[in-house]
Amino acid sequence: MGVREIVGKRLPFLRWSVVRMGLGMRNLLSNWQVGDGREAALLRFVLEHARRNEVDDAIRIIDKFAYEKSFLINVGDEKGLLLDAAVARAKPKLMLELGTYCGYSGLRTIRAAPRDAHLCTVEFNADNAEIARRIFEHAGITDRVTIVHGTLGDLGKTAALLREKHGFTEGAVDFVFLDHAKDAYLPDLQLILRERWLRTGAIVVADNVKVPGAPQYRAYMKEQEGSLFRSREHETHAEYQTLLADIVLESELLAPS
Ligand SMILES: C[S@@+](CC[C@H](N)C(=O)[O-])C[C@H]1O[C@@H](n2cnc3c(N)ncnc32)[C@H](O)[C@@H]1O
Repeated sequence: MGVREIVGKRLPFLRWSVVRMGLGMRNLLSNWQVGDGREAALLRFVLEHARRNEVDDAIRIIDKFAYEKSFLINVGDEKGLLLDAAVARAKPKLMLELGTYCGYSGLRTIRAAPRDAHLCTVEFNADNAEIARRIFEHAGITDRVTIVHGTLGDLGKTAALLREKHGFTEGAVDFVFLDHAKDAYLPDLQLILRERWLRTGAIVVADNVKVPGAPQYRAYMKEQEGSLFRSREHETHAEYQTLLADIVLESELLAPS
C-alpha cells in the first residue's frame, strides 16, 4: 500500500483535498460542488482512464480518483457494498435515487440490479447532472438510467414529471436511495409515500444517517418500526476513510402506504 493510499484510507484528515473540502463547505452546501473544480476533474479522469462501456471500470476509476486525487462525497466503496446488497435484495424493476452527484452510486445501483431494471436519479445541480450524464454514457448505461434535473422539493413539478413521463405509478417503485440534502430525506420520503409509488416490500436506503446526520428521518423510521417499515441500521464509515463512523439505514416497506 503506497503512502497516498495510507493517508487516503487511514489518515484522511491529513489529505489536502479533505481540508480543501472543509474550506469549501459553504459552497458545497449551497452549490453542491466543492468549488475547486474537482468534479470536472473527475469527469476528465474517468474519460481518460476508465475502459469504455465497462461499469466496473468506471467505478474502480472513480474510487481511485477519490483516494488518490481529490476526496469526493460519493457513497464510496465501503458503504457502496451495503447499497449493492440492498439493491440486490429489492430485486428491482424501477428504482429512484435522490442526489446523483457525479453518478458513482448510480453506476453501483445499475450494476447490482437485474438487467431489465431502470434507475431514475434526481439531481438539482445542472453541472453535476451533466457530469453524471457523461460518465453514464462512457460506462455504456444510458439505456438503463435517466437523470431527472430537478428536486422533489419543487412543489410537485418533478413529482409530476416522474409520474407522467417515467412510469412512477402506484406500487411501481421497488427501491429508493436517499443521498441528497439531509433535511429533505423525511419530507421527500413522505411525498413518495403520499404518491403511493412504493410497492409493499420496497426497500429505502438512506446514506449519511450519522454523518452529517438525518435525525428527523432516523426518528421517523424508529417510530414506524414494525408498522409501516422495518429498518436495519448498518454501522459503517463515512466515505473513503476509516476514522469517521457513519450509519446507512435500510428500511423495508411492510404495508401499503
Ligand atoms: C452526497 S451527493 C450524492 C452522492 C451520490 N449519491 C453518490 O454516492 O455518488 C448529494 C447530491 O445531491 C444533490 N442534491 C442536494 N439536495 C438535493 C435536492 N433537494 N434534490 C435533488 N438533488 C439534491 C446535490 O447537488 C449533490 O449532487
